[in-house]
Amino acid sequence: MQDTNGTEDLLLASMAFFQPVLDSLLKSLGPSSLCEIGIDKGRFTKYLVFFCKEQGCHYTGIDPAINTLGFSNVGSEGFQFFEQKSGDVLPDLPPKDVYIIDGDHNYHTVKEEIRLIFRHSEHRPVLLFHDTAWPFARRDLYYDPAGIPKEKRHPHSLEEGPWPGKDGLEKDGFCATESVGIAKAEGTPCNGVLTAIEDSISQNLVPGGYALATVPIAFGLSILFPERDVPDATRDEIQKLEASSEVLSPLLSPMESNRIRLGLKLLALSEKFDSLFTKYDLLLKNYNDLDKAYSVLMGKYKELDEHSDKLLQAYNGLDQHFKAQMGKQKA
Ligand SMILES: C[S@@+](CC[C@H](N)C(=O)[O-])C[C@H]1O[C@@H](n2cnc3c(N)ncnc32)[C@H](O)[C@@H]1O
Repeated sequence: MQDTNGTEDLLLASMAFFQPVLDSLLKSLGPSSLCEIGIDKGRFTKYLVFFCKEQGCHYTGIDPAINTLGFSNVGSEGFQFFEQKSGDVLPDLPPKDVYIIDGDHNYHTVKEEIRLIFRHSEHRPVLLFHDTAWPFARRDLYYDPAGIPKEKRHPHSLEEGPWPGKDGLEKDGFCATESVGIAKAEGTPCNGVLTAIEDSISQNLVPGGYALATVPIAFGLSILFPERDVPDATRDEIQKLEASSEVLSPLLSPMESNRIRLGLKLLALSEKFDSLFTKYDLLLKNYNDLDKAYSVLMGKYKELDEHSDKLLQAYNGLDQHFKAQMGKQKA
């Protein structure tokens, strides 16, 4: 998704932010298989691949547009990549111990992912969701609007995105330049990632005994876990994470909003700079073309000037000759 200049150090949104707090949680869980939905540039995948190699865990990655190089060296054993949508892969995928869900951030897709994951009734996986805080907790994003059934799609914009603290969409908002659809309204029924998770729980798509813990910073992380089936250490890790983010929330929320606004402003400025730079390049090219044309004209002017000098000399010669003839006639 969006970063401020394509480098990871100025990153706005990624599961990679959660790596330091998820590492001990995942290790305490000791999964033998995990599935990542939504890879993009592979920022979190790098860590998951490392984790899986170290822990002997099978990795499955799903993304219709894997936007990354460098995973070819992963070696086929224990690693599987599908360049497809989750809805096309999950129906035939054997159950996994952990799912990391960060693909298409909309109600319809997330609910369908949950339904497909829990289609095996005896299966008690842990699900980690990204984008369960602002802006996509209560507002849909569509990577491929046409791929979502029409009646499940909210009216959306392809040119504007959400801005912290504002209800409507803005032209400099989050993801505004990424050609994704963003729901115009926020907080309506069946809208957003967190709404999809909550509705899946209340509508029994999620089996009994599952609890939901949410960390509402860095675009939000939610953990849906079978409370009694995870190791004590994992439950402790989740509780610690949830409790500490609650304690720090008054500090973290404004910092997060500030961070996002700064990132978006920087993006808008860098786009303006890029467009000024393009205009400058064009002006420079025009100036160089004019300069060349001027040099050619100057060359022609010099030739004409020399020619005119020669004509003038010839005229003067003729004039003197004419005057001399006239003098002779008078005499
Ligand atoms: C927000 S990015 C993922 C970021 C990544 N997880 C990270 O932490 O850096 C979302 C990705 O989901 C992919 N995606 C979109 N629709 C999808 C779907 N239906 N199934 C799986 N992936 C999807 C997009 O191609 C995009 O690369």
